[in-house]
Amino acid sequence: MGAKAHKATYMRPLVPCKIKPKIRNVKKEILSIKTERLLLREIVESDIQNIYNGLSNPFVIKHYGVSYDNLEATKEQMEWYNNRTQFWWAICSIDNQEFYGAGGLNDLSPKNKKAEIGLWLLPDFWGKGIMTEAMPLICNYGFEKLGLHRIEGFVETNNHNCKRAMAKLNFELEGTMKDCEIKNGEYIMISMPS
Ligand SMILES: CC(C)(COP(=O)(O)OP(=O)(O)OC[C@H]1O[C@@H](n2cnc3c(N)ncnc32)[C@H](O)[C@@H]1OP(=O)(O)O)[C@@H](O)C(=O)NCCC(=O)NCCS
Repeated sequence: MGAKAHKATYMRPLVPCKIKPKIRNVKKEILSIKTERLLLREIVESDIQNIYNGLSNPFVIKHYGVSYDNLEATKEQMEWYNNRTQFWWAICSIDNQEFYGAGGLNDLSPKNKKAEIGLWLLPDFWGKGIMTEAMPLICNYGFEKLGLHRIEGFVETNNHNCKRAMAKLNFELEGTMKDCEIKNGEYIMISMPS
C-alpha cells in the first residue's frame, strides 16, 4: 500500500453511511482523530525523518511497495501525502511525543466513491493492536466524512501479519491475483478477498 502499491484486494464490508456528502466537493482537510492512546494527525513537513525511518526499515518495506534510500528521495513521498487524492495521517502517541507510523486512504476516486487503505508501523510498535485500533478510525473517516462506498486494501499474499489483521477487522478476501507484479526480480501474488 502506498505510492507504488502492491495489489491484494481486501474489501471492507459495506457499511451503511448516513452522511453522504458529494465527495467531488470534499475539500482536502485532514482532521485529527483521537482515542485514549492514539493521535492520528496530519503529516507535516517535519515528519520527513519519521517517514524515512519507516520506509527505509527492512522489516517495514519487506511487504510494502514503497521504500527510500535517503531523506532527499523521501521528499517524493511527502509530496504524495500532500496530493489531493491521498488522506494519510501520522499515527502517534496521544501526547504526540512518539511517532508510531502512518496510515490512510489513497487513490480516492470520487467517481467510484472508493479508496485504497494503507498502513505501516515502525517495528517497535508492532503487535500492540495499533493497526486494529487505527484502521477502523480511518475507515469511518472514509465512509462518514468522505462519503465513500468501498474501501479496499492491497496486500502481498505472503504478508501474513497484515492478512491476519485484515481478517480480524472483517475485511473480506476477494481472491488472488497471480504473478501480478515483479518485486526483487520475482513475480509476486496478491490475494483478493471475497
Ligand atoms: C501489518 C502491521 C501494520 C500490523 O500492525 P500491528 O499494529 O502490529 O497489528 P495488531 O497489533 O493490530 O495485530 C492485529 C492482528 O494481526 C496479527 N498480527 C499482527 N502482527 C503480528 C505479528 N507480528 N505476529 C503474528 N501476528 C500478528 C494478529 O492476528 C493480531 O491479532 P491479535 O492481537 O489478536 O494476536 C505491521 O506489522 C506493519 O507495519 N508491517 C509492515 C508494513 C506492512 O506490511 N503494512 C501493510 C502493507 S499491506
